[in-house]
Parts: sequence; structure tokens; C-alpha cells
Amino acid sequence: MKWAFVATDVDDDDQIDGLDKLKWLLALLRAQSWSYQHSHWTVRGDASYGNHLLFERLYNSVQTQIDELAEKIVGIYGIAALDSEDLLGMFLYWNERWDVVDCLHRRGITSEQDLQNVVKDTYEDLKENDQLSLGMDDWLMATANEHETNQYLLRQVLRTKNAMQEWQPLKED
Ligand SMILES: [Fe+2]
Repeated sequence: MKWAFVATDVDDDDQIDGLDKLKWLLALLRAQSWSYQHSHWTVRGDASYGNHLLFERLYNSVQTQIDELAEKIVGIYGIAALDSEDLLGMFLYWNERWDVVDCLHRRGITSEQDLQNVVKDTYEDLKENDQLSLGMDDWLMATANEHETNQYLLRQVLRTKNAMQEWQPLKED
């Protein structure tokens, strides 16, 4: 049996691919936390206090996931795996990708869709290459599940917003 997770340094191509996917995911979560906190500070308009609290809940939940994933990466691949410059470059990619979306809720949904795609891709890649530990399997599933709740919360706000845009006052006879 091949023990995929005993290495303290990344030394084969499958591990490098798996680690790369996990780093993109870690950078995505950091960018998402940044984006949600920025939205928490800058949200305006109708129900802005409710949205201020919603974005606070979102960035706090992501913060815990960042810490868990970074520690898992170090535990599996060693400290050299967390290259700060690499992660910053990936972070900027996600930040720039979402920053063009003006509506803060749509921006959040866009980041959540990206997250679901990256988690799925990472999961399949690690599994295919026999690199998926039981703990990482569980963490990826749980993270995808928690982010489906984020999508629900953001979509509910957008549904209300759309209803307000379509709403017309009754004409008086
Ligand atoms: Fe605050």
C-alpha cells in the first residue's frame, strides 16, 4: 500500500498537483474572507444593517475554514508548502475576478460558485491520484456543505431585491 501522506516535503508530481489545488482553494478562501469583510464595511441601501450582519457572519465562517485548511496543508505537505508569495498571487487573481461585480450579493454568489467548482475539482483530483486522506475528504465535503448555506443566504437577499425591482405601485383610477 502506498502511504500518500507521510511526506514532509512534496516530492512527486501527483503531490505537487494536489498541493497546488489546495493552495488555490486556500487563496480563494482568504480572498473570500477579504471580500466579505469589505462588503460588511461598505454595504449601503435598504436593509443595510441586516446585510452588514450577514456579511459579518460570512467572513467569520470563512476565517475558521482558512485556519483549518492551512493547518491541514502544513500537516500533510510541510511548512514549505505554504509559500506566502505564491498564495498572494493566487489571492489577487480571485480578488480581481470578483471585484468587477458591483452588486455585493452577486459578488458573493460569484465567489461561492467559484468555491464549489474548486472544491469539487480538488476533491476529484486528490481522489484520482490517491492523495485524499479521510480527514481531507471529510473537510472538503463539510466545507462545500457550509458554503451551500452561504449561497442560500445570499440568494434569499437577491430574490427580495429582484422582487423590489419588479414591484410597481398600484395605479390609482
Ligand atoms: Fe464590524
